[in-house]
Amino acid sequence: MSRRRQIYEGKAKILYEGPEPGTIIQYFKDDATAFNAQKKGTISGKGVLNNRISEHLFTMLATIGIPTHFIRRLNMREQLVRQVEIVPIEVVVRNVVAGSLAKRFGMEEGTVLPRTILEYYYKDDALGDPLITEEHIAAFGWATQEEMHDIADMAIRVNDFMAGLFAGVGIRLVDFKLEFGRLFDGDFSRIILADEISPDGCRLWDMKSNEKLDKDRFRRDLGGEAEAYQEVARRLGLTPEDEPEVLNLAEHRKTRGR
Ligand code: TMP
Repeated sequence: MSRRRQIYEGKAKILYEGPEPGTIIQYFKDDATAFNAQKKGTISGKGVLNNRISEHLFTMLATIGIPTHFIRRLNMREQLVRQVEIVPIEVVVRNVVAGSLAKRFGMEEGTVLPRTILEYYYKDDALGDPLITEEHIAAFGWATQEEMHDIADMAIRVNDFMAGLFAGVGIRLVDFKLEFGRLFDGDFSRIILADEISPDGCRLWDMKSNEKLDKDRFRRDLGGEAEAYQEVARRLGLTPEDEPEVLNLAEHRKTRGR
């Protein structure tokens, strides 16, 4: 790991130069932040679980024809991905009222939306990722109309697929965030799904109990965040048999006497 050239360190991941040109290694950290990094902490084992969960979701999405940056998982905390130019927009897809939407409009969390809402935020930590419209995106040239068409289209397809996938394991996909990148081929570029999809950037509620199985446990000091991420992995069939010592965090902790 230390032999490789580090390209970028984000809040939850480190990017290293990949083995071949045009590839990147994503290293998943246990670090967790919230409220634009005003709140910081760690969730033990999160990196391993997010690496695995994201691998699974990106692989499944590829089977329905969503182009993604994912190439393959390398080890417990790393995956090889295609190098892209990240579009500086966070795409949030909402099926149920929660979080900032609930706050902005004074709505009750848990209200099912009559239709899926797509929102765009400008990726800029110094500005606190402000909510933007397609007018801002076009005026400031953050993405072309054609790119935005592809992005919106893919976001809806990802939502339809993932909502069904999670419903099948008793989880409600409340909302989630996606990031897209430009994959260059000479002078041409096309939009592909990038970053990660994990409980860090999704709201996942147990369908029966409404228990939160995502980063809101950390944001809201609910506790049990590692167990929640592990439960998501377990329900997706990413069982401890795969990597007993880490995916089975509870056992792991018991043996360490915690
Ligand atoms: P919000 O309700 O706080 O706007 O969040 C909507 C969804 O987007 C939620 O699933 C968490 C995710 N998200 C991120 O992944 N990164 C962020 O910086 C923010 C604000 C939200």
